[in-house]
Amino acid sequence: MKRNLTMLLIVVAAFTLVLAGCGAKDNTSAGSEPSEGGDGKKVYTVGTEATFAPFESLDDKGNIVGIDVDVLQAIADEMGFEVEWKNIGWEPVFQTVKNGEINIGGSGITITEDRQQTFDFTEPYYESQLLIVVKEDSKIKSLAELKDKKVSVQINATGHMAAKKLQGESSKNIMAYDTQPIAIQEMLNGNVDAAIGDNAVVYEYIKAHPKDKLKVIKDDAFEKEYYGFMVQKGNKELLDLLNEGLQKIKENGKLKEITGSDFK
Ligand code: ARG
Repeated sequence: MKRNLTMLLIVVAAFTLVLAGCGAKDNTSAGSEPSEGGDGKKVYTVGTEATFAPFESLDDKGNIVGIDVDVLQAIADEMGFEVEWKNIGWEPVFQTVKNGEINIGGSGITITEDRQQTFDFTEPYYESQLLIVVKEDSKIKSLAELKDKKVSVQINATGHMAAKKLQGESSKNIMAYDTQPIAIQEMLNGNVDAAIGDNAVVYEYIKAHPKDKLKVIKDDAFEKEYYGFMVQKGNKELLDLLNEGLQKIKENGKLKEITGSDFK
């Protein structure tokens, strides 16, 4: 009899452990649920690739700083949630938002029709356009002239898409790198004829590297682009939260204060 009771206790204990295990798994689950901060506010994780000043870069202490951080913080302040930024790399931003490991993609991400098949985006918060960057003494003057030139881009960024559109999907003349600064450096090293990148980021690079002898070429053959924050497809709750906050900081002038741009 005593034995049976012991057995029963063991079974109950084991069952409790299994249940507890499930609970623990839920809290850290790979789903797109936010965690809860100390003050009871929801904490959303944000994935980025922080070599993209002025939108996201690392300061001397290794903190992620920039326009995207400030814009999202302003939205979070309005809506009463918290954000935790993670510098995970450009392509992982897409993978982890897709599989729910990360809640928000905040990385100067252009809203494109193609990406909208897989993700949901907030309303836009910034207008951008691609630029060509060449060495000061280059003779290149337009996008069309890059048709059979060697071009460097950030992999799977809109610059990469523009290069493919011009030269064809499998062109051997397109060199795709992990970051936009590397794409520019490869051009400076003479490995390609031109780099293509987002305008504000190219200008910021030139400002930060005054000794690099660079020249930019604007070409309206590049379409206007709009940055948005990206969430897992169907995450309406988070999307609505972000959009409502974004609308508020558009109306109260905070967005303009942060980006310095009139874009509404
Ligand atoms: N706007 C471009 C795109 O969406 C480039 C963004 C790159 N962002 C970054 N943080 N590296 O494709």
